[in-house]
Amino acid sequence: MSTPPPTGFAEAAASVADVEGWMTPGQARRLWDCASAVKPGGRIVEIGSFRGRSMIVLAKAIADGVELIAIDPHAGNDRGPQEFEGFEEHAAEDNVVFQRNLEAAGVADKVRHIRKYSHEALADVAGELDLLYIDGAHRFVPARDDIRRWSRRLRPGGDLLIHDSFSSIGVTAALIVELFFGSGFRYLGRSQSMTHYRREHLTPGERVRNAGRQLAQLPWFVRNVIIKALIMVRLGKVTRAFGHDPSMWPH
Ligand SMILES: C[S@@+](CC[C@H](N)C(=O)[O-])C[C@H]1O[C@@H](n2cnc3c(N)ncnc32)[C@H](O)[C@@H]1O
Repeated sequence: MSTPPPTGFAEAAASVADVEGWMTPGQARRLWDCASAVKPGGRIVEIGSFRGRSMIVLAKAIADGVELIAIDPHAGNDRGPQEFEGFEEHAAEDNVVFQRNLEAAGVADKVRHIRKYSHEALADVAGELDLLYIDGAHRFVPARDDIRRWSRRLRPGGDLLIHDSFSSIGVTAALIVELFFGSGFRYLGRSQSMTHYRREHLTPGERVRNAGRQLAQLPWFVRNVIIKALIMVRLGKVTRAFGHDPSMWPH
């Protein structure tokens, strides 16, 4: 008897197995669960789409009638780990491969791509968001600005996912400044470095507990910074002592 082809999440995960990017299977599952909960008429924004790995999962998860928007300038900056500047010659290729990957996955017509930096795209998206996924520039100022400017576009009860939390120093500093101690977002947990918040108003007591739950992630952040430092000084093998696979950048 032949094995039936995978469907639903398994099919989506299989379809991005060869798409370049840093999203882990556990993170794909969280994206899938959040996106598939958005009702028709709802709206999802992803900041930082690169070559489409996470966008394809989102596109395969959504119901008919959900608007899905990818914001990425494909300008060669902040492409991935240690790729902050100097990748301009890859910019056009990233854009072409992104479109090609969406087409190959059969989801190109579900995605509106705004080829701009996130801070230039605010006026291109009308109305409230049900789900916001931030995975754009990871340096402190743009990461903070993405959280500050875009998360207020979420409707009450909307979901906020942020990649490279407690992994990237810039993103983690942005979380501390924007989300740790505020009363507007409840921390729900994380899939490796993908944190999950929900837009809710917190009472003073909830606010203290919310800060405590996020502060409790800092030892994992310190571990990741040490692992990155060891990889950068070519002592990757030592990271096995932390239960880490030395061939992987922590995500
Ligand atoms: C880590 S990659 C995104 C990976 C993608 N989410 C995935 O899972 O495949 C970061 C992307 O952010 C984009 N980017 C950099 N600066 C940006 C900005 N200011 N606004 C939006 N996207 C940006 C880069 O072009 C790059 O494609």
